Amino acid sequence: MTGNAIIEFNHVKKQYDDNVILKDIDLEIERGKFYTLLGPSGCGKTTILNLVAGFTEATEGTITLNGKKVNDIPPNQRTVNTVFQDYALFPHMNVFENVAFGLRIKKMNKNVIKEKVAEVLKMVQLSGYEERGISEMSGGQRQRVAIARALVNEPDVLLLDEPLSALDLKLRTDMQYELRELQQRLGITFIFVTHDQEEALAMSDIIFVMKEGEIVQSGTPVDIYDEPINRYVADFIGESNIVKGTMIQDYEVSFVGHTFECVDAGMRPNEKVEVVLRPEDLVLTSVEKGKLTVQVDTQLFRGVHYEIIGYDRDGNEWMVHSTKKAKVGSEVGLYFEPEDIHVMRFGESEQEFDARLESYEEE
Ligand SMILES: Nc1ncnc2c1ncn2[C@@H]1O[C@H](COP(=O)(O)OP(=O)(O)OP(=O)(O)O)[C@@H](O)[C@H]1O
Ligand SMILES: [Mg+2]
Repeated sequence: MTGNAIIEFNHVKKQYDDNVILKDIDLEIERGKFYTLLGPSGCGKTTILNLVAGFTEATEGTITLNGKKVNDIPPNQRTVNTVFQDYALFPHMNVFENVAFGLRIKKMNKNVIKEKVAEVLKMVQLSGYEERGISEMSGGQRQRVAIARALVNEPDVLLLDEPLSALDLKLRTDMQYELRELQQRLGITFIFVTHDQEEALAMSDIIFVMKEGEIVQSGTPVDIYDEPINRYVADFIGESNIVKGTMIQDYEVSFVGHTFECVDAGMRPNEKVEVVLRPEDLVLTSVEKGKLTVQVDTQLFRGVHYEIIGYDRDGNEWMVHSTKKAKVGSEVGLYFEPEDIHVMRFGESEQEFDARLESYEEE
């Protein structure tokens, strides 16, 4: 424990009848950071938010908020607010009434309500929209009303369940900036849910990558991108070239018939592994200067770079992002540095992975 944890899950399990939805979740959320739960549909992201908010109960394990166990505490007594995917605004009320609703239920003084609503509407840049009907607001504006309605309760934690998924690409990008900026300005802890990896990379301090009711890897966007723990994470986060290889010994891995220096260690000699090379780490060069030779199959212009697909002599596909063009049908060399090679073990857990990294990085 860091002492700065605002939320902790200890061996949390969630089951509906015989269906295990969350297997054994241990997590720690620190105050004031932007967290993202990232994973495909049905992996349990919303279930984790519901457990934090108190909309559903854990089958086993403990959940603490601000150091206190909250398993049996009802939602309205938790200092947590949720922004739902569909915003769940009241369509027949104007902006002011939507935001003021929770405070009215708490029977707060009218003038205090006015002040508080004005304050949060200013935060989300909707001052002057008080009298507008919800149906007269755009998707992005509705989302800001939903956020204002959550913020007016002064929560310690704001839960956001895929709040951007209904928006078009341009508005979505704008809102990503706005949300990130808002979180940093307010210093509130955000737990954001998405199945969009680019969104997760752009917005988060910490990402939890989920798969079938488990957190497979957690870390900063850079950590997860640079050191994916397995094929699932490497594939889910960004584009990857993944080939089978053999770890000859520490700092030496072989794949596609060659042996290369690398920065990984701590495996068994001759252990079978998988190797990741990111398309943007591969440099297009001549066959003589390259470490691997591929035959160029296709080339697409992607705006900032060319996306080149080629095949090595073993038939492995290689994707390269390059500002240089290649000639379809020609043979080219691919050059990369030892640190561009990421070696992954089969079936390694996050704890084992962390322990291994620590053991050889200390040397
Ligand atoms: N009340 C419920 N009763 C039974 N099963 C449920 C219930 N709520 C959720 N589930 C199941 O739990 C699993 C996880 O659901 P959850 O809503 O957490 O997924 P998710 O990661 O949020 O997915 P999505 O990206 O589609 O929103 C799913 O298989 C879902 O069918
Ligand atoms: Mg969901």
